[in-house]
Amino acid sequence: MSDAVEEIVNLGDRSYSVIVGHGVLSRTKTMIPSSARRVAIVTQEGIPPAYIPTFGVLAVSTHVIGEGESHKTLTTIERLCREFSQAGLNRGDVIVAVGGGMVTDVAGFAAASYHRGIPVVHVATSLLAMIDAAVGGKTGVNIAEGKNLVGAYWQPHGVVCEMDALDTLPAREMRCGLGEMAKYHFIVREDLSSLSMVDRIARCVRIKADIVSADEREGGIRALLNYGHTLAHALEIATDFSIAHGEAVAIGLLYAAHLAHRMGRIDSARVDQHYEVVHGVYGLRHALPNGITPDQLIIDMGRDKKAIDSITFVLDSATGLEVVSGVSADMIRLALDDLVLRLG
Ligand code: GLY
Repeated sequence: MSDAVEEIVNLGDRSYSVIVGHGVLSRTKTMIPSSARRVAIVTQEGIPPAYIPTFGVLAVSTHVIGEGESHKTLTTIERLCREFSQAGLNRGDVIVAVGGGMVTDVAGFAAASYHRGIPVVHVATSLLAMIDAAVGGKTGVNIAEGKNLVGAYWQPHGVVCEMDALDTLPAREMRCGLGEMAKYHFIVREDLSSLSMVDRIARCVRIKADIVSADEREGGIRALLNYGHTLAHALEIATDFSIAHGEAVAIGLLYAAHLAHRMGRIDSARVDQHYEVVHGVYGLRHALPNGITPDQLIIDMGRDKKAIDSITFVLDSATGLEVVSGVSADMIRLALDDLVLRLG
């Protein structure tokens, strides 16, 4: 179909465009606020220079952050804010994040904090950033007590999803995005696999945009975006993050199907559909990591930051996904046994 697709996140006077396509980098300029005289680009070493936009007469400074979760810290935020100040950035200027989800999370939080909030534009170069991290305004960093525990909702002025960047994306990072993409099939109960990649990414953006427009601060349906994430977060903690997020989400989606089936919410054909999407469409055939016990996973699921007074899941039903709390430990364990048996 089309080469570039534009989706709008509707948030009143904070509404913004998300442009998805190949060769769309030049659209970044159109998202820069007219007040901006300076642009601070936040990026990482590994991002090819070809994906750094240019900004004509505006003064540009470039700020490189480290790779990996260990750099997603308040120390990085402080360094960025000091560099912004040294570059003379003020409230009318703009930060442009160029990279994957870590870059958009960190740059977004720096933008939310510097001068109590300055505009940010995201150029997403990973699939995960395009369909999740760069859209919806969640920003933040890790502390020793947990991932993304310090952050802010700070909506961007616009998002450019430069799909050319996917051609050189490492396979593991691609899997991270595919795990999140698989999730959208179940949020809307649609077979997205017949769509071209541009249209599929745009469809995921549209689904997320509609959810964010309805529930920006996750008081309700935004929680559905966490489908598959309860077990996924536990797997990440239990493996000290050696399992990639998308790999963990792929397993978490299958587990959520088994749990919903155990609870009589869906039939076995629906469980099979989860396997068809996760294994068949996306090729995410990951086994449970070695040496991880059900007891450990149950403890780690209870540590999830979204678990308030009991382990909370997003579970499927005949009428769609719902947030379900108070699931018994027995049920959680039986579904883990089902998963282990089926994964072999
Ligand atoms: N990544 C889930 C959300 O943005 O709500």
